[in-house]
Amino acid sequence: MNPILPYALSAIVERELVPFSTAAVRDAADHLSLDYRARENIRHTLSPIERAAYLGVRFPSTFAVAETVWHEISRILPTCGIRSVLDAGAGPGTASLASAVHVRGAKYTLLERDAGWRSLALSLAQACGLEADFAAGSIEHSAPFPAHDAVVASYALNEIASSHLTRIVDALWRGTGKVLVIIEPGTPHGFEVIRAVRERALAIGAHAAAPCTHDLACPMSREDWCHRPVRVQRSALHRSLKRAELSYEDEKFSYVVLTRDPPIRSNAGRIVRKPIRAKGHVHLDLCQDGGLHRLTLSRKQGAMFKAARSAAWGEIWPPYSDDA
Ligand SMILES: C[S@@+](CC[C@H](N)C(=O)[O-])C[C@H]1O[C@@H](n2cnc3c(N)ncnc32)[C@H](O)[C@@H]1O
Repeated sequence: MNPILPYALSAIVERELVPFSTAAVRDAADHLSLDYRARENIRHTLSPIERAAYLGVRFPSTFAVAETVWHEISRILPTCGIRSVLDAGAGPGTASLASAVHVRGAKYTLLERDAGWRSLALSLAQACGLEADFAAGSIEHSAPFPAHDAVVASYALNEIASSHLTRIVDALWRGTGKVLVIIEPGTPHGFEVIRAVRERALAIGAHAAAPCTHDLACPMSREDWCHRPVRVQRSALHRSLKRAELSYEDEKFSYVVLTRDPPIRSNAGRIVRKPIRAKGHVHLDLCQDGGLHRLTLSRKQGAMFKAARSAAWGEIWPPYSDDA
């Protein structure tokens, strides 16, 4: 499954890019990504060209990531039970827009401090038929959050000072009816944010439903961090803005899905690294029962070996029965 931006959204992205030259957008995108990577100069308000650059260069990828996470949530808990979603640090509303395939008929609240993003998110939400309200303000100062079935913060918490993180996790969790979803870049720092959120949320009663297969201490470290890729199909515009040749890219991300109810655990493990396919063998590195284990399957294992040959980094093992 390679999630792609729906036409209604890509048409708006193209419209937003019209006033600017490709060279200027590339330049703005380069500066933005340097700032994000260095976690410097993160401004509360982006300029129109910076927002256009984010839409053209990052939005297709963050959308694909969020769509992948919602897809997984739909396997863990019946998303038909999700009637309301709070998207904290919504930007263009990526996480809300990406939920639309899996969550039907919910009401959305998009919390965002940048007025330019709120106005763009409104256009994008309308194009997708999402029923969305907007809240202006910062995550730090908006608590207590009104209760929502699902609360999501996608690529937002890493912009918040780490000294505020515990208080914010507590507040987000108090506002969560069923599921709290945090998504960050698949970098050592992104993972550290995820690990800190997970640790705090478990301490106040949450269950780690994904990617974790247990509620025990996370066995991964900053040196060997938990992340996974999603393949993003690049449009001609995306390729041109990134000066890229390939028709796809692999976006790495870290995430955690925290639930109020204990998830159904089926003795599964999570494939935490790219599977190694050797002649007659497949090695799967699994996070399972609170530890990291290597599972080796050989041809003799018939159907399981066949399934392992097509297993991918980030998936659950053994696979969901309808994926096998
Ligand atoms: C990198 S963008 C991510 C946007 C979107 N959630 C996504 O996944 O594509 C980070 C967004 O979070 C917002 N943000 C970061 N910190 C925030 C805070 N403390 N309060 C409100 N919004 C915040 C920024 O204004 C920006 O729109």
